[in-house]
Amino acid sequence: MPHDVIDPDEDARRRAELALAAGDPTGWFEPLYAAAEAGQAVVPWFRGEPSRELAEWVAGRPGDGRRALVVGCGMADDAELLAASGYETTAFDVSPSAIKAVLTRFPDTRVSYRTADLLAPPADFHHAFDLVVEILTVQSLPKEVRDAAIASVAGFVAPGGTLVVGAVAEESIDLDTWSGPPWPLNRAEVESFARDGVTLTELQRVRDDVRWWAEFTR
Ligand SMILES: C[S@@+](CC[C@H](N)C(=O)[O-])C[C@H]1O[C@@H](n2cnc3c(N)ncnc32)[C@H](O)[C@@H]1O
Repeated sequence: MPHDVIDPDEDARRRAELALAAGDPTGWFEPLYAAAEAGQAVVPWFRGEPSRELAEWVAGRPGDGRRALVVGCGMADDAELLAASGYETTAFDVSPSAIKAVLTRFPDTRVSYRTADLLAPPADFHHAFDLVVEILTVQSLPKEVRDAAIASVAGFVAPGGTLVVGAVAEESIDLDTWSGPPWPLNRAEVESFARDGVTLTELQRVRDDVRWWAEFTR
C-alpha cells in the first residue's frame, strides 16, 4: 500500500508496538522521522504551527534573554516561537533525523538544537532553564517509563524558573478502547511534575476538557 494512504496515526501505533515489543520505548521515533525524510511516512503530530496554549502563554511573557528548554521538540515550532519571543532557547529530541529536518526547515535559527534522550538527559540541563516546555512528549512514552521521564523534566527547572506542561487528559478518553501512542496523562501524573522542589501553580483543562495545561515553579 503506498505510504500516502496509510493513516499516519495507525502507522505510528504499529511502529511503537514493534519497538515496545523489543523493549525500546523510544526506538520508533528515529525510524519514523527517517522514513518521513525519505517520503515514506508522515509525522502525525506535525501541524506546522506552535502549540496554541504556549503561544497564548508566551504572548504576555517575553523572554528578555531568559533560558528556555523545549523537551522532545519534534519539528520545533514551539522552540522557534520561544526564540522569536526573546528566550535564549535550547531544544532537544531523541531523533537525529528530527533535528536534521528542523535545521533544514529553519537554517538561520537562533535555537541551539541537540539530539538527546529525556530518559538519560545531558548533565548540563540539570536546574539550568528559566522556562521548561513539555508538550506532548511524556505522553508519547509508555506508562512504564513515565515517572523517570517526569523526574527528568522537573530536574531541568532552574531555581525561580517555570515549567509548562501540555498533554491529552486521560480522563477524556475511553481507556477500554484506547490504544496508544499517545498514552494520555491523568491528573495525578500531571500533578506529579511537582517534585524535588518544583510546585504546581496552575492546572486547567483546555480544548473542551480534552487537554491538560499546567504551570509549575521551583
Ligand atoms: C508527540 S511528539 C511531540 C513533538 C512536539 N513536542 C510537539 O508538541 O509537536 C513527541 C516527540 O518527542 C520525541 N521524544 C520521544 N521520546 C523522547 C525522549 N526520550 N527524549 C527526547 N525526545 C523524545 C519524539 O521524537 C517526538 O519528536
